[in-house]
Amino acid sequence: MNKKITVLPGDGIGPEIVAEAIKVLDRVAEKFDHSFDYTYVDIGGCSIDKFGTPITDEGMEKCKSADSVLLGAVGGPKWDTCPPAIRPEKALLAVRKELGLFANLRPTRLFPQLADASPLKKEIVGNGIDLLIVRELTGGVYFGERRTEEVNGELVATDIMPYSEHEIERIGRVAFETAMKRGKKLASVDKANVLDTSRLWRKTMHRLAEEYPEVEYSDILVDNTAMQLIKNPTQFDVLVTENMFGDILSDEASMLTGSIGMMPSASLSSGTLGMYEPIHGSAPDIAGMNIANPIGTILSAAMMLRYSFDMAAEADAIEAAVNAVLDEGCRTGDIMQEGMKKTSCSEMGDLVAERI
Ligand code: IPM
Ligand code: MG
Repeated sequence: MNKKITVLPGDGIGPEIVAEAIKVLDRVAEKFDHSFDYTYVDIGGCSIDKFGTPITDEGMEKCKSADSVLLGAVGGPKWDTCPPAIRPEKALLAVRKELGLFANLRPTRLFPQLADASPLKKEIVGNGIDLLIVRELTGGVYFGERRTEEVNGELVATDIMPYSEHEIERIGRVAFETAMKRGKKLASVDKANVLDTSRLWRKTMHRLAEEYPEVEYSDILVDNTAMQLIKNPTQFDVLVTENMFGDILSDEASMLTGSIGMMPSASLSSGTLGMYEPIHGSAPDIAGMNIANPIGTILSAAMMLRYSFDMAAEADAIEAAVNAVLDEGCRTGDIMQEGMKKTSCSEMGDLVAERI
């Protein structure tokens, strides 16, 4: 098969980790007789520097017309003082919105080889963590109206969090369908004791739950979820939640896996077009040093093959290769432990590609 991939390396460590994922994709193409065509587009700070905007209209078009999009990371201190309308993150949100990427899947898996890298005790992480956060990605407070105005001589800022039934229903459906393919257990995370959006969320989820009697469904408040993720993370299978709660809980959950550098994500639309990116940021402090962990990006490429291209065997091959390299004791700095082999970003990419 021939597939067109628009590649957005972005800022900081983005270009380094994306290069390793491309290495692995090229190896997959060779081995399974596919061809992947890459179109590179600037996004975030690098685009602001070149074009004065975090993504150009032409760049956005190239994302829309691709078979899928691979992203590194955006942002950095250099652009923290940019006006809100041209901040690097603005481009990321615009791509999510314009491509209709409403469903963000964030699998949180602790590879057994990394059990000691998790800050949680062995008796808590058990035989490994395997949960999936389904985050709503194009609604809520990220996209509601916001303003800062002067009221009675002081500044007042307002961010509105809107959710409509259809937005809740479509993410709910993704979550129930995904739960059916996994452990058939779904926890819906909300703040229904305070927020109207959460009350509508809960009502809509309950309606859907009736259509999926096989799924063991529960409601859980977001503050309690934050606590339970640390206290007893193995109780969870699939978690579904709104945009901002999902942002916060997925960073928390990532630490169960030892390092945020391990975590991939897929942002899916109602069609096959998706965007795939590691959940970590641009890590400007280690940019250009060839020490970043590319595994989150490599596993994101595997998700691209699985979800956008329907290439399950190829995706399995990438995941098995990552597993093999971890078995061999190769570790980037963030997951390094005594007795293991310190591996650079590019070496990690080489090794995973070789094992395919
Ligand atoms: C993420 C990131 C983004 C978000 C930022 C960079 C806008 O934290 O993908 O989790 O908040 O969604
Ligand atoms: Mg985040």
